[in-house]
Amino acid sequence: MNMVDIIRKKRDGGSLTRDELQYVIDHYIAGDVPDYQISALLMAIFFQSMSDEETAQLTDVMAHSGTILDLSDMPGVAVDKHSTGGVGDTTTLVLIPLLAAADLTVAKLSGRSLGHTGGTIDKLESIPGFRTDLSREEFLRLVRETGLALADHTEDMVPADRLLYELRDVTSTVDSLPLIVSSIMSKKIAGGAEAMVIDVKTGAGAFLTRLEDSRKLAGSLVAIGRKLGRKITALITDMSQPLGRMVGNALEVREAIDTLQGHGPKDLEDLCLELGAELLLSAERAASREEAVQSLKGLIDGGQALGKLRLLIENQGGNPHVLEDPALLPTAAQVVDLPSPTSGHVVGLDALAVGRASCVLGAGRLVKEDEVDFAVGVELIAKIGDPVESGEPLARLHVNRADAPLDEARGMVLGAYQIGPAVVSPPALIVERVTA
Ligand code: URA
Ligand code: CA
Repeated sequence: MNMVDIIRKKRDGGSLTRDELQYVIDHYIAGDVPDYQISALLMAIFFQSMSDEETAQLTDVMAHSGTILDLSDMPGVAVDKHSTGGVGDTTTLVLIPLLAAADLTVAKLSGRSLGHTGGTIDKLESIPGFRTDLSREEFLRLVRETGLALADHTEDMVPADRLLYELRDVTSTVDSLPLIVSSIMSKKIAGGAEAMVIDVKTGAGAFLTRLEDSRKLAGSLVAIGRKLGRKITALITDMSQPLGRMVGNALEVREAIDTLQGHGPKDLEDLCLELGAELLLSAERAASREEAVQSLKGLIDGGQALGKLRLLIENQGGNPHVLEDPALLPTAAQVVDLPSPTSGHVVGLDALAVGRASCVLGAGRLVKEDEVDFAVGVELIAKIGDPVESGEPLARLHVNRADAPLDEARGMVLGAYQIGPAVVSPPALIVERVTA
């Protein structure tokens, strides 16, 4: 077996075998295949694509390129949730305690924010003292003893994805369905969960903005997850406007706490209940979607879910008093109202522009090395369908640094709003459910 033959086979439209894929990944990780040969192979995959069987094999080989979490001896069914990335998407912060309250096992590995999309690790680190750099032993001990833990991805997991992603980034081969699917699913497989739900966002603020592309991605993720023995479903959900009202790290922690206290924004609560219901169904803990939603709602109303957030924060060194006193979270020096230039109804609210505004204020990273300011972000007062009056605030900017690009952020957020004379309904939150 050699790289030249493997590249030629894919270039000419052939299907690579498990052994060939194993050869590529093993030798690439070992450092004895040069980047230019892997680049050529990635470009061949970009043009010739891969069958489901090939994608599943590539996913499995990548997953096994590093440490795999073994959750098979955990007391409850181990579940995981993945989002393709959105703006103001606070669902993971709500779902982790909610699922733990439903006696599911939650061993969650998350990432940091990059570009206009947020990351759960940054959000949780805005809670004073909260540690996400748990050792593997501590992480698994917390999961076993308390049912939930959340940690940063570690270097020893799925090294193949890290290497391939860097190369895809500079060879214009990111946008290939089998490469995206194997990248996402290899990390989920290595995470060890038995049941998983994928939230595939669609619309302006999503990784894939067009519904037909989101649909293909969701279908392929579910197909590959099933081939690899996972109980998996996907929801395609709206990311044309941001989720909830808060965009920013500590702001989204506040919003998650509000939601677990039963007074969060309806879209965020609804999405959490729907995603959670998918997992209760997959784990065979509910007979119907309605029953699952009702039981999760009961765990919010009864305070059990909030109790699990307290436990998570205490377990990982954070200050649990943030639950009663949100002023203990980082707060911005200045809050700037953005008045509406006109009266009417919000007919559009561009999630991408809001995400970028939050990022330039310091809530996100333009490059991996940037420092995040936990306190800053954007608070949306009006969303699609809401009536607005000229001079009344549409949104607020939470600003910290004296040199923050306030005018730029103001222009981006005001530019994100489309205001028209007619009432429109907000876009449907759940666009499609994908089960096969
Ligand atoms: N997210 C990933 O993790 N990998 C991709 O290739 C694209 C999105
Ligand atoms: Ca939000």
